[in-house]
Amino acid sequence: MAEKTPETPRVVPRNLGGVLVFLARYPWRVAACVGLLMAIIAIDLTLPQILGDAITQLRWHSEWGAEVDPMVYVQVFGALILVRTGVAWILGPARNRLVQQTLADIRTSLYDSLQRLAFRYHDRSNTGELVSRSTADVSRLQNFFFACLFLSFDIFVSLIGTVLLIFQVSSLMGLVTLGTMIPTIALIVFFAGKLQPKWRKVHDLHGAMITVIQENIAGVRVVKAFSKESEEVGKFERKREAFMRTMTETVNYWAARVPIAQFIFGWTLPLVLWIGGRQVISGEVQIGDLAKVVFYLMAIGHRVGMIGQFTNILQNASASAERILEIIDEPRTIRSGRLTLPPGPGAVRFEQVEFSYGEGKVALEDVSFDAEPGNRYAVVGPTGSGKTTLVNMIPRFYDVSKGRVLVDGVDVRELSLGNLRRVVSVIFQETFLFSATVAENIAYGKPEADRSVIEECARSAQADEFIRELEKGYDTVIGERGVTLSGGQKQRIAIARAFLMDPRILILDDATSSVDSQTERLIQEAMWRLSAGRTTFIIAHRYSTVQHADQILVMRGGRIVEQGTNDELTARGGFYCELFGPQLEENAERRARSQR
Ligand SMILES: Nc1ncnc2c1ncn2[C@@H]1O[C@H](COP(=O)(O)OP(=O)(O)OP(=O)(O)O)[C@@H](O)[C@H]1O
Ligand SMILES: [Mg+2]
Repeated sequence: MAEKTPETPRVVPRNLGGVLVFLARYPWRVAACVGLLMAIIAIDLTLPQILGDAITQLRWHSEWGAEVDPMVYVQVFGALILVRTGVAWILGPARNRLVQQTLADIRTSLYDSLQRLAFRYHDRSNTGELVSRSTADVSRLQNFFFACLFLSFDIFVSLIGTVLLIFQVSSLMGLVTLGTMIPTIALIVFFAGKLQPKWRKVHDLHGAMITVIQENIAGVRVVKAFSKESEEVGKFERKREAFMRTMTETVNYWAARVPIAQFIFGWTLPLVLWIGGRQVISGEVQIGDLAKVVFYLMAIGHRVGMIGQFTNILQNASASAERILEIIDEPRTIRSGRLTLPPGPGAVRFEQVEFSYGEGKVALEDVSFDAEPGNRYAVVGPTGSGKTTLVNMIPRFYDVSKGRVLVDGVDVRELSLGNLRRVVSVIFQETFLFSATVAENIAYGKPEADRSVIEECARSAQADEFIRELEKGYDTVIGERGVTLSGGQKQRIAIARAFLMDPRILILDDATSSVDSQTERLIQEAMWRLSAGRTTFIIAHRYSTVQHADQILVMRGGRIVEQGTNDELTARGGFYCELFGPQLEENAERRARSQR
């Protein structure tokens, strides 16, 4: 019975560690990559030793005439290079596959979260910011995975290995190496620590910049209607400047400090030459061993230089990881229940419901009513009185702060969200259509539906006729090559969608406020047909829609102040009459005229 809702695991640390959790899903592949990488590092650490040993042997030959065959060293060296190439050849693609898979998982988790987050979350986040996080921040993570995930491991192990090997040759040279390496790394880490909040700021400013772009695209008609183009360009320029300035500051901060750290490490070689040279002269150390140390230092000098580069990418990615994980890890305030609703007539009951969108003002207060199955309820009231808020409680777009909402006797919070939203259909004031065919848009909630059923629903929704007039009928792709639909046409597609879902409970928000009277009549007919036999809530501003409802709920300031049929409420002469005053008189006149 209970439906399982897929949920991403709760990721604990909101930093790169939290992203690495995704990598841990593939322990064997990670182990294989690390193993191969270790083999490469081992070879890299062996090569200077072979060179050093060769020099020692050659010296013995030149001073004491010892038998030496350099070919042996050449063969071993050559063989190791060959093995290293082979290992690198296997590691490259294996690492790429692992990284691509992990990034794909992160993307899926991110989009999954975006879909599941409650209305409340979307109320306070803007689209541009979310777009920036799902694109630019994911790219930065990709950069991190490709450029420095394995590199950092390589540097870490190589540095430790090198220091140990140098200590083996001479503790004094080992101490010199540590003496320069530790302050260098400490400085880089210190600077990097200062860097992350700076990158975070850069990314947040990027989000703000994308928001301006996104709002301008979405609101382009408003911008043009008020000839605000240059002002909007100015707004964008200011955001872009703030972004560029912070970005430049951050990059410069880093660029000015890395050389300071590298300067310290730069002293290692001269110091080792000085100390090691004296040890060679005094006979404590072989010349070949000093050569080994020099080769090691030259190899890691290059790696210490890279610490600077990758710390930069690391901090950048770390700030991005934080921004991505904030979405993935956002608590789902609306959690799915476990029950599936047994078949029932669709009774709705509100029990002392209270709700507020945030601190302070309540949007619904002490709302109680019983909606009889199959009846039509008109919800009326001035703008901002809480009509939309009231109906939003039924499909749990928001959860009540106090009280309960019951569907066929079950608290909606106990139902699985998937089940609840199949039972309750909502037609929003603004219909959103996807860039897909008309048929796919109608079948959005039931993609497996047959074409004949889809067409049947479109006919019931009074949409069949205009759909057939489109170039490719039901297969016309909306949004492609200028195919757009009018508000009234979109509304009828939405009604067809609802027909297909065959819900027990139907919610229609303000469906006819922006169309001509001919279309309004078509939509009203379609709505009336759709609502037959279902418990329906119609939020309406027009008397023509309201008067035929079985019951009318009159709202004011978040409360239901009157309830009854049109005749009862008219006779009562209360707030309802105030709301529909002029329309009521017009109607009474018309009735009187027709009776005459
Ligand atoms: N997403 C939201 N976040 C914060 N406050 C909101 C939100 N939606 C609505 N409100 C507030 O809640 C109150 C009720 O709003 P609601 O949208 O339910 O009114 P309405 O009766 O549907 O109005 P209209 O007829 O204009 O659609 C208003 O004061 C409104 O400002
Ligand atoms: Mg509303």
